[in-house]
Amino acid sequence: MDQQSISFADVAFALVSTLDLVGDDDGHGKRVAQMSYQVGKAYGLDEDELNELFLAGLLHDLGVSTTYVHSHLIESMEWEGVHEHCRVGAKLAEESSVLRHLSPYILHHHDRWSQLQRWVAAGRLSERQAILANTILLVDRIDAFAWQELVKKGYKYYHMAKDFCLQQIDLRWREFFSESIYQAFLQASQADIFWMMNDKQEVIDFTHQHLAKLDWMISMSELQEMAKIFANAVDAKSPFTYQHSLGVASLARYLAKQIGLSDSTQQRIYLAGLLHDLGKLDMEDEVLDKQGPLDQQERQKMNRHSFVSLMILRRIKGMEDIALWASQHHEKLNGGGYPTREKDLPLESRILAVADIVQALAQNRPYREGLAMPKILSIVDEMTEQGELDKAVVNCLHANSNQAYQVALSQA
Ligand SMILES: [Fe+2]
Ligand SMILES: [Fe+2]
Ligand SMILES: [Fe+2]
Ligand SMILES: [Fe+2]
Repeated sequence: MDQQSISFADVAFALVSTLDLVGDDDGHGKRVAQMSYQVGKAYGLDEDELNELFLAGLLHDLGVSTTYVHSHLIESMEWEGVHEHCRVGAKLAEESSVLRHLSPYILHHHDRWSQLQRWVAAGRLSERQAILANTILLVDRIDAFAWQELVKKGYKYYHMAKDFCLQQIDLRWREFFSESIYQAFLQASQADIFWMMNDKQEVIDFTHQHLAKLDWMISMSELQEMAKIFANAVDAKSPFTYQHSLGVASLARYLAKQIGLSDSTQQRIYLAGLLHDLGKLDMEDEVLDKQGPLDQQERQKMNRHSFVSLMILRRIKGMEDIALWASQHHEKLNGGGYPTREKDLPLESRILAVADIVQALAQNRPYREGLAMPKILSIVDEMTEQGELDKAVVNCLHANSNQAYQVALSQA
């Protein structure tokens, strides 16, 4: 992978598609971005401000990875604890040099206009930032109203919820929004196209077209920072998978180094480790947190996650190999894995498969305590004898077992 060959647009699209997996209303981030853009335009924002607003709209719910938090987001205008996901998301954005500028919007996207004005008076926000944050809140609530109505009435198209949304927001806007933003919203939303652009394929196309205009390339270290945000979002989904992706990434990189793979391959394996489980955001919390064995339906849902990881990551040009390795972490050398039952696995995928198992066994899970390394090694040996794991990778694990255990549980 060339250092400069990854497009920000591709990674941002993958990130929002990952976030949009949470809950049933697939596409929330994209719809909020689309509507924010239209309202901002009616308000008279300039091109740079519109781009900023669009990106902030896409990623405003960066801190939501559980279906539990998500259910609140579509059921109420405001609720106790609403700001928690804002704090989590803002902190994640802070950790990426490419996304840091979006952190204030993420942090304040559930503040009422009166509160935003207090932040402006205290010098915590600029007037422009307050306007952008309030625009996001307005269209965010529109999307929540629309979603309730679409589900309740069984409507196929988004614009069929237009009248309901306008009535609901008319009852409440004085409490929550700046009058000038509300007026801009009314102006933008008169045309049916404002609503029609939110239908599934239309909003995907709009997002692609808009991101493509940004035309930024990102470096390997910027890519790694963004990938850590994906990993954090996945790992935050369940208290039992805390820092699993980070541990898998670190252990896979460590094993790759011991095996003698190049620096650049080590870096790429690290990325694959960070991203391998992102399809888990598609699953209900109850399945991931279940105390005990999964039933057949739950198992079927679980077995989809590495396929979902592939579907999202394969769209990032220049990362096709990383997408493949990430998606093969549940494949087995004897062909008994999923989703493809592939037997001919690249070494990188074999390393990742071992790292995934070791990290998961070392960690506490709902149904058992984390295991010590001797027990982990015996389980891994048994799987190797059954033809599931690569012997050379497992030998490397044995030769470095203490260090590997620490790396798997370290918070790198
Ligand atoms: Fe939110
Ligand atoms: Fe939202
Ligand atoms: Fe997995
Ligand atoms: Fe995993």
